[in-house]
Amino acid sequence: MTLALKYRPKTFSEVIGQEAIIKTLTNALDTKNLASAYLFSGLRGSGKTTTARIFAKALQCSQGESSTPCEVCDNCKMANENRHIDIIEMDGASNRKIEDIKEIIEQTKYKPTIGRYKIFIIDEAHMLTREAENALLKTLEEPPEYVKFILATTDPLKLPATILSRVQHYRFTKIDTMLIKTHLEYILAKENVSFDTKAVELLAKSGEGSLRDTITLLEQAIAYSKGKLSLDQVVDMLGVINPEMVDRIFDLIFKEDKKAISTITKEIASYDIDTILDEIISYLKAALFQNKFSIITIERFFKIVADVKELIKINVDNEFVLSLMFFKMIEALKPHKIDDLIREFEKKAFHVTTPSTQPSSPPQPLPPTTDLFSKLKQELLNRDKELYECFKDVEFVSFQDNVLVWESCVNDECKQLLRKYWSSVIKILIDEIFGIGTKVTPKPCSKLAPQPKPQKSTPVEIVEHDKNIVKKAHEIFGDDIVEVNIYRNAPNS
Ligand SMILES: Nc1ncnc2c1ncn2[C@@H]1O[C@H](COP(=O)(O)OP(=O)(O)O)[C@@H](O)[C@H]1O
Ligand SMILES: [Mg+2]
Ligand SMILES: [Zn+2]
Repeated sequence: MTLALKYRPKTFSEVIGQEAIIKTLTNALDTKNLASAYLFSGLRGSGKTTTARIFAKALQCSQGESSTPCEVCDNCKMANENRHIDIIEMDGASNRKIEDIKEIIEQTKYKPTIGRYKIFIIDEAHMLTREAENALLKTLEEPPEYVKFILATTDPLKLPATILSRVQHYRFTKIDTMLIKTHLEYILAKENVSFDTKAVELLAKSGEGSLRDTITLLEQAIAYSKGKLSLDQVVDMLGVINPEMVDRIFDLIFKEDKKAISTITKEIASYDIDTILDEIISYLKAALFQNKFSIITIERFFKIVADVKELIKINVDNEFVLSLMFFKMIEALKPHKIDDLIREFEKKAFHVTTPSTQPSSPPQPLPPTTDLFSKLKQELLNRDKELYECFKDVEFVSFQDNVLVWESCVNDECKQLLRKYWSSVIKILIDEIFGIGTKVTPKPCSKLAPQPKPQKSTPVEIVEHDKNIVKKAHEIFGDDIVEVNIYRNAPNS
């Protein structure tokens, strides 16, 4: 007997992952609030047939309908051995014709022989021919009170609305991986097979929510491993990449270690690319629920995987596709860093800092300030291309005593943009790069700004002009400006 059959649940409490359904059926039995036809739909190997059989037994038990049938009466025993004369199972896939259904309809005319009901379990009900469905429909409309139908299907949408409207519909869900894992471990313990938890985890994932498929894989793995179930053997058997490898890759992505990534990429490039992408997708899905990375990061990663899937269609080689994907992921992390900075800054701005337990580190020797300014531009570029384009025309002049002086030759449109993003982006980056509380002193453009002719200017005119500059500076950079220094060119000779 296969393991899947050996471990087929005999009671409701052994059915895993279908709590809502089991609860409703249990209630219905215990309150004798029963329908005449049920439909169990859902993924293959999720417990439809199993539940149908337990339900049928529960209806037949000599002690009366109950969610906990006695298991010892003749009805229960025969049901458990699959030989109850009043529980008739029919496979809709192989008995799909009208004659087959007619036979069933004929049987509904006779009262149950030893049980309380005559129960028909029709598996793969969506496979019945239209004619057969129509014949069945008539009986479903007005079944004798001693008749119960339990239809099961993986594809309820293929059933006509006329049938759907006459049945109580229960949707079996994919079984949660954690539950599957626990179930596999239970089976392994019963079978006296020692195992690696990681190996079981991988098996649990690869059955895609179908418990039967998973148990079948488990059985193969046991045969394959001879003794202990190890991760390497399961990886080998399934032909998937080692999940620890995926873990490592993401680690390296966060460390921006392109070299190590290239090495791994070479190693895994021989695998089927779809399998690798599936592994990565399931890793990201899990990461989402484990709060491993931020949602923004996961979303960006998913987009990158989706793009890569497009590339595969045009037959680009695996190594290239994978390298591209991982490098793009590294790139995708960069803007995110700035999001962190913003959050950090907001925290500081609103004084919600958590007291640091570490002593502040000694001041680091500062890199040349012009480099800092290029860094500022680079970070702006990472953050927003448009913003960068505008900021390009701002030139570094000096940085001393916490005062950053620059010369700005930006046009009016850009001024607006820079102003708009002054406090939410630019100032934050300046604080991050030049130090918190850096004061910015913009210097007007020496190339474009109209130069007052010094010989003509009266002291009053100069004051007016300076006021305008101060006003303009505030327009561009908002109220964060603490000081405006005005530099005058030497009078033209
Ligand atoms: N929900 C479940 N709980 C426990 N075992 C299950 C469950 N679903 C499936 N199985 C296992 O898979 C086998 C096949 O399940 P079955 O009920 O025939 O699936 P379905 O009819 O949905 O295709 C069972 O014998 C059992 O070993
Ligand atoms: Mg079935
Ligand atoms: Zn009984």
